Amino acid sequence: MKKTKHLAVFASGTGSNFDAIQQAIEEGALDSDITLVVSDVPTSAVIDKAKQKGLKTFVFNPQSYPNKRAFEIEIVEALQRADADYIILAGYMRLIGATLLHAYEGKIVNIHPSLLPSFKGLDAIGQAFDAGVKITGVTIHYVDEGMDTGRIIAQEAVKVEDTYGRDDLQRAIQAVEHRLYPTTIQTLLKQ
Ligand code: GAR
Repeated sequence: MKKTKHLAVFASGTGSNFDAIQQAIEEGALDSDITLVVSDVPTSAVIDKAKQKGLKTFVFNPQSYPNKRAFEIEIVEALQRADADYIILAGYMRLIGATLLHAYEGKIVNIHPSLLPSFKGLDAIGQAFDAGVKITGVTIHYVDEGMDTGRIIAQEAVKVEDTYGRDDLQRAIQAVEHRLYPTTIQTLLKQ
């Protein structure tokens, strides 16, 4: 019988995408489990949520390490102990380095709140709002060494209604993220 694939979710903040993935697993819509939650922000809400669910966590403070390679070596060890198959970035606000990319080649996926290649980097929602675009959206892509540059797996457009403020746009985008990320991961796992 084929082994269930284990996900490691990386997040730095609120963890609403973590919630959506976890909920899809609990509802049986996503045929997987979360074997580890990794965060570079020890005080992040996502870590509290993961602990409440009884999930394993690996939390680190990047400033306690001499460089990215040093903390990524420890992350890889934690991922291997947890038998993680895929890395799912869900608001992990840090570029993935060579150590993780080599250890999990082709197995690292990110969600970004714009239609890439538009509005890469930080605050993509604010960037799109300030630019006055009428259509933005969500992209799910493989991670490579660039910033938001890996091969695109799925995209969905979100209309910027004339009545929207920045927060309305964020709500609309995140509603799409919470639906699209679990279904896209499920499709990936079945390939
Ligand atoms: C999400 O909107 C995600 O697309 C974005 O961070 C948010 C995390 O929210 N990621 C990026 O901007 C990556 N460049 P969450 O913590 O509530 O899931």
